[in-house]
Amino acid sequence: MYDMGSVAIGEIEVPTKGGVSSESAHSRASIGRYIMDLFEAMHTQRAIRRYKPDPVPDEDITKILKATVHAPSGGNRQPWHFVVVRDAELRKKLGELYWGATEYARENLGLHKDTPTYNRSGYDFAQHIGEFPVHILPCIETGSGDPFGRGSSIYPAIQNMLLAARALGLGSCYTSNIRNLPDYEEATRKLLGIPNTMTIAALIPIGYLGEGEHFGGAKRKPLEEVVSYDQWGQHAP
Ligand SMILES: Cc1cc2nc3c(=O)[nH]c(=O)nc-3n(C[C@H](O)[C@H](O)[C@H](O)COP(=O)(O)O)c2cc1C
Repeated sequence: MYDMGSVAIGEIEVPTKGGVSSESAHSRASIGRYIMDLFEAMHTQRAIRRYKPDPVPDEDITKILKATVHAPSGGNRQPWHFVVVRDAELRKKLGELYWGATEYARENLGLHKDTPTYNRSGYDFAQHIGEFPVHILPCIETGSGDPFGRGSSIYPAIQNMLLAARALGLGSCYTSNIRNLPDYEEATRKLLGIPNTMTIAALIPIGYLGEGEHFGGAKRKPLEEVVSYDQWGQHAP
């Protein structure tokens, strides 16, 4: 039902000035080759941890990045930069850092142990992440603001990235695990030439879904558990 491979319907223009006026353009995110209802994308996007080695077309990466930078940011400052890593040797080295972070977290921080996600594929994912075809590292200006405020101006962009990938039939997985590793940022900066004025927020692999992976089926708490109306704890009438 959600296989995007069969719904190529041609290129659709997105107005860059004057807003979007037609209802169809409003209700269906235009992403070029494919069209997917925004709600379908939101409801089926999930963390993908096994990927095929197949390369991702450059044009798809560009579409994802264009959607990414359309996200809001505080004061529209757009204090971000995205490093796309395709080079096999660099990805391998990032993979080694990720594996190091996973081992470090397991041994020192007590993270990941016995969680369903970790048992499902986290360990395997950590071992193979360096082989996945594309990595994107969203970076944000470190500045002097509080970390929460800083993060707030990169997370909407990352969510756009994940949804755009989903709409193109590509899997992705937000990972922040590497931030657990002391010296990770320094090592990654050195590897990719990232200036020390930037914080590396995440490492996000992108690619076609590997064996056993699927979109949809993510488990979330029911609304009654996480939403109040007018007063905390008061449910919908
Ligand atoms: C801030 C943040 C950090 C995350 N870090 C990692 C990570 O380091 N490694 C990983 O495998 N998944 C990571 N994830 C993915 C979450 O585990 C995943 O989104 C969550 O388990 C829901 O998965 P689902 O959408 O497939 O249900 C992270 C997600 C977020 C939002």
